[in-house]
Amino acid sequence: MARSAKLLLLLAVIYILAAAFVVPASAARRRAVRLQLYMHDIAGVTAVQVVKGTGPLHPSMPPGNRHFGDTTVMDDLLTEGPSLESSPVGRAQGSYVLAGLVDPVVVVTATFKLTHGPYNGSTLVIAGRDEVLAEVRELAVVGGTGKLRRASGHVLWRTLEVLEGAHYVLELDVCASLPATAAASALATN
Ligand SMILES: *[C@@H]1O[C@H](CO)[C@@H](O)[C@H](O)[C@H]1NC(C)=O
Repeated sequence: MARSAKLLLLLAVIYILAAAFVVPASAARRRAVRLQLYMHDIAGVTAVQVVKGTGPLHPSMPPGNRHFGDTTVMDDLLTEGPSLESSPVGRAQGSYVLAGLVDPVVVVTATFKLTHGPYNGSTLVIAGRDEVLAEVRELAVVGGTGKLRRASGHVLWRTLEVLEGAHYVLELDVCASLPATAAASALATN
């Protein structure tokens, strides 16, 4: 093979390899998803302790959720505004475990099923560490279904107020994004 033909072949191989690693523009583009929701975690009503932890005591934690290992299952209402009477937008179903031996930290795993608005019927999957005494906590948006398929991002989590009857009102700011292509195909199939 002539020297110039070999050089051309080499250039062609380099070009093909480079093209394989370049992310197509459509995959790189993502659509933002911003939601503000309020979650109502009411001890003994929508949040029920199912495991009594036997580990170290955290006196700073609320009564009933003070021992390492305490595990609570929740089915909390999500509303549009901070009041329990404002429009319902979905439910936060999952669990949290007091999983800090030293720090008062609960580890949360939840699925937000949305029942109103543009994402009605879709879910967001949330996971992360909730250092309950911190003013703002950041958890991860690790996925979603329906129109929120392949969502990723984070959710900022604040305890807004604690009402009578251990009713915790949490303000949640969801900052996530969707692949533009997945969002378009989910819309097309719904
Ligand atoms: C949400 O979707 C369900 C199922 O399709 C439907 O029955 C319901 O009316 C919708 N809710 C709103 C508020 O659009």
